[in-house]
Amino acid sequence: MSEGDRLTELAKRRGFFLQSSGSYGGVAGFYTYGPQGATLKENIESAWRDRFVTREGHMEIDGPTVMPEAVFEASGHLDGFDDMIIECPDCGESHRADHLVEDEPGSEVEDAEALPIAEVEDLFAEYEIDCPTCGAALAGEPIDDFNLMFGTNIGPGSSSPGYLRPETAQGIFVEFPQLAEYARNQLPFGVTQIGRAYRNEISPRNALVRVREFTQAELEHFIDPEEDEPPIERVEDVLLPLYSVEQQQAEDGQVQELTVREAVDEGVVADPWIAYYLGISKGWYERIGVDMDRFRYRQHLPGELAHYASDCWDAETEIDGDWIEVTGFAYRGDYDLAKHEKHSGEEYSVFKQYDEPVTVEKPTVDPDMSYLGPEFGGAAGAISEELQALAERDPDAFDGDTVEVTVDGERYEIPVERTGFAVEEVTESGEHVTPHTVEPSFGVDRLIYTVLAHAYEDDEVDGEQRTYLSLPPETAPTTVGVFPLMDKDGLAERAQEVARDLRAAGLEVTYDDSGAIGRRYRRQDEVGTPFCVTVDYDTLEEGTVTVRERDSTDQKRVAIEELEETLLALRDG
Ligand code: GAP
Repeated sequence: MSEGDRLTELAKRRGFFLQSSGSYGGVAGFYTYGPQGATLKENIESAWRDRFVTREGHMEIDGPTVMPEAVFEASGHLDGFDDMIIECPDCGESHRADHLVEDEPGSEVEDAEALPIAEVEDLFAEYEIDCPTCGAALAGEPIDDFNLMFGTNIGPGSSSPGYLRPETAQGIFVEFPQLAEYARNQLPFGVTQIGRAYRNEISPRNALVRVREFTQAELEHFIDPEEDEPPIERVEDVLLPLYSVEQQQAEDGQVQELTVREAVDEGVVADPWIAYYLGISKGWYERIGVDMDRFRYRQHLPGELAHYASDCWDAETEIDGDWIEVTGFAYRGDYDLAKHEKHSGEEYSVFKQYDEPVTVEKPTVDPDMSYLGPEFGGAAGAISEELQALAERDPDAFDGDTVEVTVDGERYEIPVERTGFAVEEVTESGEHVTPHTVEPSFGVDRLIYTVLAHAYEDDEVDGEQRTYLSLPPETAPTTVGVFPLMDKDGLAERAQEVARDLRAAGLEVTYDDSGAIGRRYRRQDEVGTPFCVTVDYDTLEEGTVTVRERDSTDQKRVAIEELEETLLALRDG
């Protein structure tokens, strides 16, 4: 059985996750977290909040999941958030064309998404790719772009289209003007959001790995690219397993182990902010239970970059021999804020006050377009704007007798004396800066899947096969299982009291009195409970209980009055 299959079986049986709406046949790409899974998710989210919000001093917001069309026109998702789709002519099933090309035995294509559609169509013919559902030949079938956003209508009628957000990030970007106010217009500042995102994936697969509704934990760090430096010294010695573009293209490319400082100094991770976040994230992955022997940071190949990113590194984890992207660390530049400024007409910048006012030379053209004369007709306004832009960009262009501008593909030659070009001296107290964005974007569901897969262990205890999840106590849904040895002679009542006291101390506790004690241990092992407390006759006589540790199965006796302190110390390491 593959790692994924045995995990999915355990997850359903023990209440971590299951395909939702099963009574109605289930819908691909939608999962329900059961009681164990919901708590595990909450624990991972609160560990994220602790590390990336509280300890970094960032803000957190919580925005709506439905947003108006204008937002996604500006962000580029309406036009460009597509995957390649191919439909089988026989069974009518749709598939992701790029995945079929990559998965075809003998295929050497690793990133078909980066290829033009026509080339992917040729590859279908070259590899003679068949429909994975019914086996019909797909060569010769057209491949189309398929937009991944779920559309809806806001209110009755269709006059106000909206979309379920495909990333939580846009909810942060659109609110930038107000968020900058909250940050008192001081760069750098970071804003986070944990919430649902929706993508109408063509082929959901691997349980939680590719789903249609998922949770992201995203951080948008707004920086002044000219001035702000990350506090690299805090993480400079952290060793990063880096799989750069260069390494990927090398004959026998291997992951390179470099410290954060080396990665920056040697230019392997060009942007120090990205390197900083790779550094702090590594410790966090380890903390929540990712096996660091099955982890790497892989740089995006040039054709793989999203429309907004100039550089991107993915955190990847290995499951069943495949590498899964769990986080993207992207340098988004000023792409989003500039787009929203342009589309909304609002200011998406911060005003940077100079220490002292400065006098600058400001080239201008005469704003009264009359200088252009009637021969320029309706183009006069656009020509005037172009001239002003040119004056700011390249005042030397006005040195000769004429100056040239191009508007709507038409070239105009204008006598300089008619433009009213002048250079004025003005005093400025500051300038508007459009911040750049550094974005670590975590996929919570893929992290849950990884943490469970990496924690899954089999061994033998007392001649019996057992399965346990070696989850860190902070991540495990339950910290302590409390059992009475038997349900008689007051043992159950005493055990319930112990459970109540431990809950009051802030521990996640499960009480279980059904079945043989060995079976109760196995049940807790399978949900990753790190400690079990058993109340027995010595408890009633001597006031002690046994505390059993999950991985080693070692047991020790602890006095009840020291139990709370002992368990809290064990939980917090
Ligand atoms: N704001 C940037 C952004 O959304 P992304 O790489 O498209 O970037 C970020 O998504 C993370 O969200 C991924 O690293 C992955 O963990 C998660 N993710 C994306 N699509 C997903 C899907 N269909 N199912 C589960 N998780 C997904």
